[in-house]
Amino acid sequence: MNEKAFNYAHNDTSTPERESRTAGLNKLQISDEVARLRKSAHEREVPTASEETLNFLFTLALAKNAKNILEVGCAEGITSLALLDICGGAHLTAIEREAQFIRAFKDNLHAYADRCTLIEGDAADICAGLETGAYDFIFLDCAKVQYIKLLPELKRILSKNGVLLADDILMYGWVNGEVETPKKRRMLVEHIREYITAVTNDDGLQTSILDIGNGLAMSVKR
Ligand SMILES: C[S@@+](CC[C@H](N)C(=O)[O-])C[C@H]1O[C@@H](n2cnc3c(N)ncnc32)[C@H](O)[C@@H]1O
Repeated sequence: MNEKAFNYAHNDTSTPERESRTAGLNKLQISDEVARLRKSAHEREVPTASEETLNFLFTLALAKNAKNILEVGCAEGITSLALLDICGGAHLTAIEREAQFIRAFKDNLHAYADRCTLIEGDAADICAGLETGAYDFIFLDCAKVQYIKLLPELKRILSKNGVLLADDILMYGWVNGEVETPKKRRMLVEHIREYITAVTNDDGLQTSILDIGNGLAMSVKR
């Protein structure tokens, strides 16, 4: 693993991967192209959503009949392309700040280019400029320390009854205390706990914390 990959908390190898009790029961249905991109990402240790998380994303996006999707932190765009695949009529806006991921995403876009807008830069700056109430489905998957900072803007740009799905909410079991947090990840875990407290106490949101993949917070705007 290269040093940069290790620095991402979700690639931390100091704690074994946690598996939810349902992981083995799900069956992911994806196109050959998305399967190929996921395999290549795994081989190069590029971060991408777990199979179980992706499966739930699909189920939820279809149930919601998502039309205007935002992905915050898209890396090489594997989840973005998968969502465009499954949500036939949808448009997806993706935000990414790392140049090497942006290059790969552009290479991967092909057939989806007319339904996808890739915005390069920092999520906080970009979200501040997005239209109020414009997105009916937001997948939040950037640096976890940013979640709490981004929340006010994400609520603003989410439509009524829109879904905000935040990934990596349980982080190896560190966040709920199931597994001891390594010292260097304690600040990160505090930020995620702050996010959970904020979304579960917000009168403007209905939130469920879900034991899916590495943990999800699913919030619906009232
Ligand atoms: C876990 S990866 C995303 C994986 C992707 N959602 C998928 O499932 O295929 C997180 C990504 O967020 C990007 N990122 C982190 N913080 C960001 C920020 N503040 N603004 C924009 N991108 C950010 C990282 O560069 C990284 O590519």
